[in-house]
Amino acid sequence: MPEKIQIQTFSELSPELEIVRKNFGDRNFDIEEAGDPDWAEEIKEWFWKDPDTYVLAYLGDELVGVATFFKKEVEFQGEKLKIAGLGGLTVAKEHRGEGVGRKLIEERLKIAQEWGADIAFLNTDIDKLGGMFAKFGFQPLGRNYSFVGKSGQVHEDDSGMIAPINSRDKFAKVLQSVEVFFIGESNV
Ligand SMILES: CC(C)(COP(=O)(O)OP(=O)(O)OC[C@H]1O[C@@H](n2cnc3c(N)ncnc32)[C@H](O)[C@@H]1OP(=O)(O)O)[C@@H](O)C(=O)NCCC(=O)NCCS
Repeated sequence: MPEKIQIQTFSELSPELEIVRKNFGDRNFDIEEAGDPDWAEEIKEWFWKDPDTYVLAYLGDELVGVATFFKKEVEFQGEKLKIAGLGGLTVAKEHRGEGVGRKLIEERLKIAQEWGADIAFLNTDIDKLGGMFAKFGFQPLGRNYSFVGKSGQVHEDDSGMIAPINSRDKFAKVLQSVEVFFIGESNV
């Protein structure tokens, strides 16, 4: 029988686990820009907040997937909007297609619901992975979103997707609006 995927969550990582996680990311987060110094600078400016929760997936003792969860609260059309930011999803190359990614997404959607998030937000290469995230209720934002970088400068990007969590009404309002959608500090 295949081993069961076990999930562990942490609000902080020990220095040892942080090293394990970083090495795991370096080995498995295969994006085109990896190794490009401009991209390294952009990461520091764009993705600068520590997550509220680290979600790690194991098969036995082996770390096979990592992901992060962020609590974000912003104003949207004069109302408070609680956004669950999903980031950093990476599955070990040798364990893709085994349901680890699904488990890490579902676990974070559960955390989002328990926290009382109105909607969830993530950024991704929509052409490549939009179809995967659609399976979990995500839809492309269809316009730019903005966030505050580490320097305090506001940046925009066009790769956002959102899903309803506890408020279909707010989800619909965000999706229908044409304003640049502000997600607060850091690009999740
Ligand atoms: C994207 C990634 C996380 C998927 O992880 P995974 O463990 O292989 O995914 P799963 O096996 O749990 O698949 C989950 C579902 O998405 C689908 N799926 C997985 N990869 C997909 C892809 N590239 N395109 C479309 N659908 C995909 C699966 O068919 C599955 O659907 P099902 O459960 O209905 O059968 C993994 O390929 C990865 O780590 N890629 C590199 C890092 C990256 O790009 N991360 C995303 C950042 S936003």
